[in-house]
Amino acid sequence: MKSSTPRTSALLVAALVSACGLVWHVNADEASNPIKESMKAFHKAPKGVDPVCKKAGDGKASAEELSKLVASYKTLISAKPPRGDEASWKAKTTALLAAAEGLKIGAPDAAAKYKEAVNCKACHSVHKPETK
Ligand code: HEC
Repeated sequence: MKSSTPRTSALLVAALVSACGLVWHVNADEASNPIKESMKAFHKAPKGVDPVCKKAGDGKASAEELSKLVASYKTLISAKPPRGDEASWKAKTTALLAAAEGLKIGAPDAAAKYKEAVNCKACHSVHKPETK
């Protein structure tokens, strides 16, 4: 009987890790900024108009808006924040995505979770560059 060689799996893990590193680099050097895109598209709206995040928290976002929200939060997770550490960013964006996915499938506690996760100040105070 052939046992699977530990060396092969070690190589595989090394290959996977370097592939992830590559993706991370491409994202860090991107021309557009997925974080700003997401903020402008979903967290901000012209005066008198509710942004998508407000509608989502109130249970008033359409299925299409929620799908776009989920897609956008996925790009946030792999984006590199301009400030703050990676672990904190991952935790915050993963919570956002999970809550938005909950809203999309109509999970009963999703609105409360989303409102907590989308806390502008809690995230900006750690990850948004200081404005002078
Ligand atoms: C999970 C973290 C996070 C949450 C939650 C969050 N933001 Fe942001 N936001 C950021 C980061 C990081 C930036 C800075 C991006 C940059 O400068 O590259 C930013 C930037 C912005 C900008 C400036 C965009 C630009 O074009 O420069 C606006 C406007 C904004 N956020 C609005 C909001 C509002 C409103 C909320 C709450 C409803 C919110 N954000 C919640 C992380 C977050």
